[in-house]
Amino acid sequence: MHLNSDVVRSHVDIENGVAGRIIFVDEDIYKHELESIFAHTWLFLGHEDQIPNPDDYYVTRMGEEQVILTRDRQGEIHALLNSCTHRGMKLCRYDEGNTSLFTCPYHAWSFSTDGSLVSRPGDLFGVPGYKTRYFEELDKSKWGLIAVPRIANFHGTIWGNWDPEAPSFEEYLGGMGQWLRFALESRDGRPGQGTVLAGIQKWRVKCNWKFAPTNFSGDFAHAVSHRSVDMVNIGPSGVGRRDDKFDGASVFGWPDLGHGGTGWAGALEEDYVQPKSFQRFPEVAEWFDKCRAERRQRLRDTFHFQGKGTIFPNMSFHEEQPRTIIVAHPNGPGETEFWRYYLVDRDAPDHVKDTLRRYFMSYSGPAGLTEQDDLENWAAATEASNGTISRQYPYNYQQGLGHSVPYPDVPGCVWAGQPFSEQNQVIFLKRWAEFMEGRNWDQLMHRVEIPGDVEFPLAKSQTSGEESA
Ligand code: FES
Ligand SMILES: [Fe+2]
Repeated sequence: MHLNSDVVRSHVDIENGVAGRIIFVDEDIYKHELESIFAHTWLFLGHEDQIPNPDDYYVTRMGEEQVILTRDRQGEIHALLNSCTHRGMKLCRYDEGNTSLFTCPYHAWSFSTDGSLVSRPGDLFGVPGYKTRYFEELDKSKWGLIAVPRIANFHGTIWGNWDPEAPSFEEYLGGMGQWLRFALESRDGRPGQGTVLAGIQKWRVKCNWKFAPTNFSGDFAHAVSHRSVDMVNIGPSGVGRRDDKFDGASVFGWPDLGHGGTGWAGALEEDYVQPKSFQRFPEVAEWFDKCRAERRQRLRDTFHFQGKGTIFPNMSFHEEQPRTIIVAHPNGPGETEFWRYYLVDRDAPDHVKDTLRRYFMSYSGPAGLTEQDDLENWAAATEASNGTISRQYPYNYQQGLGHSVPYPDVPGCVWAGQPFSEQNQVIFLKRWAEFMEGRNWDQLMHRVEIPGDVEFPLAKSQTSGEESA
């Protein structure tokens, strides 16, 4: 079930940069989001290093529903709905672990880590009473766990999609993949060395889920919210912040795909860590210096993006300062469950990992000083938008509207030329509207013109950029 496109367009006006508050508070619209967005888009499930061994599992989420990420005995990764096929019981009640068998607490049907319903000698596990009560007539091959049909491994991160027709994850990512890949690479430029620190922080906030991805896709303008942490110097050494440089930063987005971020593009940025950040931790500063020199050597001419960004719909990542991933899991229109993963290099020395871990958690997560500012904004905005009167009025996304231009040499990418623009929030809403209308993948990926289609409002092209003041 999708929303009628006229209804969607009455809520989201891309050309004029406004969106009805109703899409942030309404129960019916929220239910459509679960069906039209979360059942069709690529969603972040976790990192392969969370399930390194055969029979390891990690319980994660897709939309409101739990799925069990497993590694079977052949080493293959699966994502299985955490709901018993017999009568729906929540099968696994732990967050993570290792098991050869998931045995349902209700009637003891048992499943292996590849999702198949198994038989065990003695008739106690597998399907109890398979011989005596089912007379061996139950077709076990038809009653395995419900598996996510599409799984992708992107430089160690695992993604899932319920829609068998969806394009590959790489196509879905488009040019934004260069950005995400860079966040997952080793700090010295070797591929695939980023990993997650054990222990995922999870907490709930009374805000609509869309606040987080639209914040992390590019919102430098809310610096005033972080004034207190700026004053106390939130940097790891108690000096400044690690993200307080703006020189050359800009908003970059993919209007046809919904992704975007804020940061830098081009040849290697001369530094991704503020020089004084780790001055109280000379051995950490030394490690970063060494990495930086090696990375310059390795990636000297490699084009890349760097900074923070959002993969549509609900995964955001910070590539440089608290190097993390945050997933905004929807829990109803007025509540979000956030999961934060912290990224480090797999082979970084323990003392470096330890210092980074402490710094990350002082900055981000439920006890993070900076994160708390953002959470307070999102919760209070959700509350103040949900009144009989307030929900009738729109939000404004007109900052820089019409002033974005195509970014040279990166097909599909537009940029604002400066860090302050609501371009990426409009891009997110545009993609949101396209999914909510129920467009098929051909339309979603190939820009087929259909009635009511709205192109991203580019007011000027690269060559006609002259304008009078
Ligand atoms: S619900 Fe799982 S065995 Fe009955
Ligand atoms: Fe913030």
